[in-house]
Amino acid sequence: MSSAEQVGGAVAALEADLRGLWADPPNLPPRWFYDERGSLLFDEITRLPEYYPTRCEAEILCTEATGIVGDASTLVELGSGTSEKTRVLLDVLARRSGGASTSPGGALYVPVDISEEMLLASARAVDAEYPGVRVEPVVGDFTALAGSLPGTPGERLVLFLGGTLGNFTEAEREGFWRMLRGVMDAGDRMAVGFDLVKDPARLEAAYDDAAGVTAEFDLNVLDVIGRTVAVRGLDRADFRHESVWNADESRIEMWLRAVRDVRLEFPTLGRELTLAAGEGIRTEIARKFTPDELTAELSGHGFAGRAVWTDAAGDFGLLLAEAG
Ligand SMILES: C[S@@+](CC[C@H](N)C(=O)[O-])C[C@H]1O[C@@H](n2cnc3c(N)ncnc32)[C@H](O)[C@@H]1O
Repeated sequence: MSSAEQVGGAVAALEADLRGLWADPPNLPPRWFYDERGSLLFDEITRLPEYYPTRCEAEILCTEATGIVGDASTLVELGSGTSEKTRVLLDVLARRSGGASTSPGGALYVPVDISEEMLLASARAVDAEYPGVRVEPVVGDFTALAGSLPGTPGERLVLFLGGTLGNFTEAEREGFWRMLRGVMDAGDRMAVGFDLVKDPARLEAAYDDAAGVTAEFDLNVLDVIGRTVAVRGLDRADFRHESVWNADESRIEMWLRAVRDVRLEFPTLGRELTLAAGEGIRTEIARKFTPDELTAELSGHGFAGRAVWTDAAGDFGLLLAEAG
């Protein structure tokens, strides 16, 4: 695909997603956060004192790496980002493969991400670090996988880390499990990182840090919109970032609230959006789970739970399940 076609594809995809601005409440899917700058900001978020999920998940991965990888020969990582935490799993895979990267049955790592620059740079780094592992990055949408996954049936491990699962609505999550079961074979396994329900004050702080990095990450989506589609009246100074715990839905919500009356015109869509001061756009949800509800949900989609681990403090979980 030429870069002009890719740009055209992004415009059409964003214009389609912008329809959410006229829903109740106005909302956007989180994938538009992750242009190159957004990906770098997210990487910065993972190191903030308030943002515990990355450190907790890394602790679980370090402690349980051998059991998680098991006898998998292929790791397919959805929303791989920097692939930083994955390295402890790649260590196990590389040790076991004994440097056989060129044989068809050798160890394979397939990072999948929509953020192309971050994905390709991270894949290059992994490729250089792990000569025994073949690395085949895929730029794409992890909600739209089709066919069957790369690698030998029954020997694949799908990784979905970082609590990214929590960004789906309930209906999107159902659709995601259905799609995933369709592209996996019996005996393939997956490891899913999920954030646990906890004190709302800690949750809200994790998504609204004192240094303002998450606010910048949130506001960056306005820059992505302004750069990608035709829009008049868009000024990021008209918005402020907010993170709120929604107890009924068991989720954190990130919002961009209008600080004054705002009128945005989208000439190619033939529509305008008006927001009164205080009204907002919901830009992300981050659902929090209990291990039992997630295990039960997966069993309804043809995945048998094999293990659930949490970090020592009990803040974050990792569920290992097998496709039946
Ligand atoms: C919350 S970050 C997690 C990154 C990494 N897995 C971690 O644990 O630190 C979400 C990642 O998923 C990617 N992403 C978001 N929506 C996506 C989509 N629909 N398809 C593919 N990648 C997506 C983003 O670019 C980003 O790298």
